[in-house]
Amino acid sequence: MTKSTAIRTRLAPLWALLAACTLAPSLEVAAQKTEAKTTIVNGAVHTDIAGNLINAHGGGFLKVGEYYYWIGENRHDDVLVSCYRSKDLVNWELRGDLLTRQSNPELAKANIERPKVIYNEATKQFVMWMHYEIRTDYSYARAAVATSSDIEKPFTYLRSFRPFDNMSRDCNLFKDDDGTAYFISSTRENRDMNVYELTADYLDVKEKVLTLWPGSQREAPAVVKRGRYYFMLTSFCTGWDPNQAKYAFATSMRGPWSALKNVGSPMSFDTQPTYILPIQGAKTTSYLYVGDRWDPSQYFNSRYIFLPLTFANDTTMVMEWASKLSVDMKSGKLSAKATTPKQLRIKSKWTGAYLAPLRTAENGANAIGNYRLDYAKEDQRWVVEPTGKDFARIRHVPSGRYLDDQAALSDKNKDDGQVWKIVKQSDGWCKLVNKKSGKALSIERSRNKSDEKLFTTAFDEKYDQHYDKQGFLLAPAYE
Ligand code: DGJ
Repeated sequence: MTKSTAIRTRLAPLWALLAACTLAPSLEVAAQKTEAKTTIVNGAVHTDIAGNLINAHGGGFLKVGEYYYWIGENRHDDVLVSCYRSKDLVNWELRGDLLTRQSNPELAKANIERPKVIYNEATKQFVMWMHYEIRTDYSYARAAVATSSDIEKPFTYLRSFRPFDNMSRDCNLFKDDDGTAYFISSTRENRDMNVYELTADYLDVKEKVLTLWPGSQREAPAVVKRGRYYFMLTSFCTGWDPNQAKYAFATSMRGPWSALKNVGSPMSFDTQPTYILPIQGAKTTSYLYVGDRWDPSQYFNSRYIFLPLTFANDTTMVMEWASKLSVDMKSGKLSAKATTPKQLRIKSKWTGAYLAPLRTAENGANAIGNYRLDYAKEDQRWVVEPTGKDFARIRHVPSGRYLDDQAALSDKNKDDGQVWKIVKQSDGWCKLVNKKSGKALSIERSRNKSDEKLFTTAFDEKYDQHYDKQGFLLAPAYE
């Protein structure tokens, strides 16, 4: 257990005692010129200085002169990649659309993800690498390359291809101190992570350097170098849902890389990595984790989350929650404020879905089912109210009713049927064992059957660890 997980675990019973509930995020914002901001507010919509939503998902960052550039996916149909700039990482100005559907015939029906840009000193070109698919077909699994001599001006799209014939999906670039550049991408249907050295002009792959962690299904890679060590952060593959981020370290991009280690919370504070941005100031260099909080029903509405990455020693990365963040660009220091969420979501290990009242009454008026994650859905929100060490009532937020021994909701009573023992597992997940019946909350469904009631059954400590039908995560709803 990491230090931060240990602190959160100890604080867990306090969730119920903490501050008032927060509102669900709003959808599109009306463009409105805003006052200059001084802090990054996580969970809120990020607007540019004209008051429009920032469209730079799966993005990357690059410092050019006095500006930081933020380049990412624009999910508003016609534009594919947009570019913003800022001097303070808080107030961003839209500078242009770098790739549109009209940039090249190959882009007319393309789905472009995770564009990243680096600069080639020799050719004086900005070079963009990205993940290329066709809107209706996710089996292309190609990398694509584009260039421009001006980072703010439309890029020339060159081509899409599979590096050395390898599938290539989630990706990133890393430019080393000596100018050698690497392309990192998920391959073999996302089972493995490949590292390629690029040619001197950065337009092609020169050599496949490594295949990392075969079979471990990592995606969303982000690399940073700190001191002697390279760090690579990745997520697991769960579509658009968050999962446990892990990192590895090495003294060379060519490896050997360490084993993967957990960082942050089990759901990575409801994000998936996209970049690690070093901020070099006069006093220190800070590291900013940038993650996407995806909204797959409206991609443009996905949030950006910025968190400080710190290092407990040369090889130990630490990521903690921050509600607000400010960066002193002169010194390079980051200051963060964190509010521990009071509400949580309850995620099933077996289905990956989140507990909420059944939406179909015929399956039981008070029964509980499990549904796909929706950050805006109040009916996936719960509060744990401790009743003693390891025991708690579990209140459903919108209805104010409590989870009981029938795996249903009932009005508050004094019965032990509404009291649950939270049995923590070593991986941060838990089992919920009813105090009255001694039975555990359980789930039994095929993955696409949300409207099936949960039930309670004999507690089984050794239930299959991977596909655990009694495994649940009490996941704080980070706002
Ligand atoms: C997660 C990836 O990281 C995203 O970039 C996107 O490819 C989705 N998977 C698609 O399900």
